[in-house]
Amino acid sequence: MSGDIAGLTAEALREIARAEDARAIEAIRVKFFGKKGAFAEAQKALAALPPAEKPAYGARLNDARKQIEAALGERAALLEKAALSARLLGESIDVTLPGRDGREGGLHPLTEVSRQIFRIFESMGFAVFEGPELEEEYYNFDALNIPPYHPAREEQDSFYVGSDRVLRTQTSPMQIRVMQRFQPPVAAISPGRCFRRDAVDATHLHTFHQVEGFLVDKGVTMADLKGVLTSFAQRLFGADTKIRFRPDFFPFVEPGAEVAISCFACHGKGCRTCRQSGWIEIGGAGMIHPHVFTAVGYDYETYSGFAFGMGIERMVMKKYSVPDIRMFYENDMRLIGQFR
Ligand code: DAH
Repeated sequence: MSGDIAGLTAEALREIARAEDARAIEAIRVKFFGKKGAFAEAQKALAALPPAEKPAYGARLNDARKQIEAALGERAALLEKAALSARLLGESIDVTLPGRDGREGGLHPLTEVSRQIFRIFESMGFAVFEGPELEEEYYNFDALNIPPYHPAREEQDSFYVGSDRVLRTQTSPMQIRVMQRFQPPVAAISPGRCFRRDAVDATHLHTFHQVEGFLVDKGVTMADLKGVLTSFAQRLFGADTKIRFRPDFFPFVEPGAEVAISCFACHGKGCRTCRQSGWIEIGGAGMIHPHVFTAVGYDYETYSGFAFGMGIERMVMKKYSVPDIRMFYENDMRLIGQFR
């Protein structure tokens, strides 16, 4: 019987040494230690022995069991380690491989054209100022000679925040803020977001961009305004672009004008871009009203100045034939990707 135990142990250790994975280990465990396993048999043999032989046989059986169990544990740990390093090797990254190209970003068309606009005006000596989008009613209306009963103040046009602040409906309040800070001569542009309670359609959004500009000095005339805007339009839309002024009313200028450029697509013949008129409206302009000068403490007997305000989305839509203003805010890569 003692020979059996030695043979059993040797057999078990051989099998363990050959086991290649956790399943093989488990099979060996069952074969030797399972309910019907070799050790269960040996246990039965033990019961049948004469009492005097029982302790020695039992002790050997115990030793054998411990030895095999230890071998099983060791082998299992070894196999687990090997499996882990094999997996890590398979998952490793070869840092010497060439990288994958990232997708190149581009500027949003509104940003791109805004920057072109800044560059053009800066080259003519205009400084750039940005102002608050949440604006005091005073700057958005009162100081711009828009009295309390003016329709532009009605709530359907403006987003009020509290009783005396609005999301600015135009960039014109920046004229006031800049003039309060600087004495003439002064020339500035101010781009930014504006907000109106407009119904959204292909040409209207509640949020849009304008660029405001103005220049104040001694002896400034409407001819200067026309010169600056002509030069601007020719650089943004093409060297043969013409400017058209038609009388218009804005409370903060006198006289006031609607500004249009000759159509760069058909050169005035009439096409879809200009809706057959030959002209594209881009904004308003005029000579700064004496009331505005008074509001900022400029002497209107000494100084004169011009101001203009243009819609940026409008200009970009025309320049790139974007049919719907909402497309600027949908972030569809098919549109954005064309402006790289
Ligand atoms: N703020 C005007 C608007 O939003 C545009 C405008 C017209 C600006 C005439 C001016 C100006 O500076 O002189 O409709």
